[in-house]
Amino acid sequence: MSLPSLKIGDLVAKLPIIQGGMAVRISMARLAAAVANEGGIGLIAASGIKPPELIENIREARKLSDGIIGINVMFAVLEFANLVKAAIQEGIDLIVAGAGFSRDAFKLCAEAKVPFVPIISSEKGAKLSEKLGASAVILEGKEAGGHLGTLEPMFNALPRIVESVDIPIVAAGGILHGKDIAKALSMGASGVQMGSRFALSEEANADIAWKKACINAKPEDVVLVESPVGMTARALNNAFIKRIVSSGKEKIKVRCIKCLKECKRNYCIFDALEKARIGDLENGLIFCGERIGEIKEILTVKEIFKNLVKEYEEAISPVGAYG
Ligand SMILES: Cc1cc2nc3c(=O)[nH]c(=O)nc-3n(C[C@H](O)[C@H](O)[C@H](O)COP(=O)(O)O)c2cc1C
Repeated sequence: MSLPSLKIGDLVAKLPIIQGGMAVRISMARLAAAVANEGGIGLIAASGIKPPELIENIREARKLSDGIIGINVMFAVLEFANLVKAAIQEGIDLIVAGAGFSRDAFKLCAEAKVPFVPIISSEKGAKLSEKLGASAVILEGKEAGGHLGTLEPMFNALPRIVESVDIPIVAAGGILHGKDIAKALSMGASGVQMGSRFALSEEANADIAWKKACINAKPEDVVLVESPVGMTARALNNAFIKRIVSSGKEKIKVRCIKCLKECKRNYCIFDALEKARIGDLENGLIFCGERIGEIKEILTVKEIFKNLVKEYEEAISPVGAYG
């Protein structure tokens, strides 16, 4: 049996795989379009950029693909509403939002008839999302890269979320292989969202030094760090994190552009993420999922999809096993 399609609102993705949005600028037009071209859903990360750059990326992705392209934006960013509005005006296919909750975004998306998909980590979040009109929810567990809403393993929470809502559930956090997809679907998820695997693709917009640091990571190198957003985040241990842990904060050397609705100012999150992305690994923050060190190769998105499809088919064949 081959991988099923994923239906979110009126959208039907040929394959039930969403490429997670990855800020700052790691998942941009090229990556999102490559995923959409393979039949998945590609997300452009909108957090940490301004509407004109987002619009440029949406247009570029449309040139590269006629597949399903969405955006991912964190509620915590000050530009949240402007980014959502800009994406809607550009005719975006769906909007995924995390790190907080916005009733206004449900309204904006409903008016524009654009599917809205919140990232949740609890039954409460799933039920409220369904009540407010979400087209689907993404359940993110503690294994995920970036900001975390929970420290509970995704597969622990999944059965409860499946029981609590009737909208499609997309499982995220620690999905690397076809057998992980098979397990999530067998437990009632309609699809999966994957971040780390696509961050280590040719098309991801990070410096090769960033990608190599992730490839060389050992399990004990992946740690939790407090983010100025007011949430815990998962990242790769490095000199930057050691300084934060030892002193509690890092001197902010850039002009504050007030990018967050609320900022703890222990360091500048977007500056740190951007520094790492462009290869300054000593002074930057490298978000990554718990299982990043299991990825040993940088592959093209096409190769990643080919492997996932094959591994899924092996996992669900009578002799295959997942668990
Ligand atoms: C480098 C990186 C940046 C991320 N940035 C965001 C983001 O901007 N917004 C968001 O909602 N999730 C973000 N995430 C989470 C991913 O979208 C995804 O849900 C998560 O990584 C899934 O877990 P996995 O990495 O184990 O596949 C990020 C993850 C990584 C690895």
